[in-house]
Amino acid sequence: MTVLKFFIDTADIDDIRRVAAMGVLSGVTTNHRMFAKRPKSAVEVLQDIAGVVDGPIVVEVVSLDAVGMVEEALSLAAIHKNIVIKVPMTIEGMKAVHRLAAQGVRTAVTLIFSANQALLAARAGAAFVSPFIGRLDDISVDGVELIAEIGRIFGIHGIATEVIAASIRHPIHVSQAAKAGAHIATLPYLVFEQMVKHPLTDRGIERYLADWDTLQKG
Ligand code: E4P
Repeated sequence: MTVLKFFIDTADIDDIRRVAAMGVLSGVTTNHRMFAKRPKSAVEVLQDIAGVVDGPIVVEVVSLDAVGMVEEALSLAAIHKNIVIKVPMTIEGMKAVHRLAAQGVRTAVTLIFSANQALLAARAGAAFVSPFIGRLDDISVDGVELIAEIGRIFGIHGIATEVIAASIRHPIHVSQAAKAGAHIATLPYLVFEQMVKHPLTDRGIERYLADWDTLQKG
């Protein structure tokens, strides 16, 4: 049985702490755009993150050739045991995934937009694949349907690679990804906040506070 896990899609330690404190956080996905906003070095940020969440911390490489990717990956993986290397879906990326798997380094293949890409990444040895829901929706292709398709294919073939629903833009994507069988949904902090909120919950709280007030006044 698949139990959907939540990762946060950020390198902002404060946001990571906020979600971890709710007890719902299983991992983090980062990218270089996120690190660019931080005053600390990437190594310091990753060590901080590892101190907050005990789960995969997905970090991307920038090299485009397999040799460079593997070299970067090995130095990143040495920072902490939970580091997972984000590798792009290219032929060089597949070579890197294969070599890293042989050395016991876990990878998450990113920028997945088709079931065939997911199949290749899994076969090469990826621990995770990240289909991008929002970016498919952006071009009028059903991103959630891709999650379901990959899930069906992995199920038929007994593939253990976990599916990370990425490029999630709003709360409906989250429940859709869960129904489609994703193992993990990686969300921006804002989407966690949006998931908590419901106008009837707010109204309910206001009502029972008012009732309590009335009771106190006798
Ligand atoms: C995750 O690894 C991706 O970087 C992220 O989900 C992309 O989201 P976007 O399509 O909203 O940029």
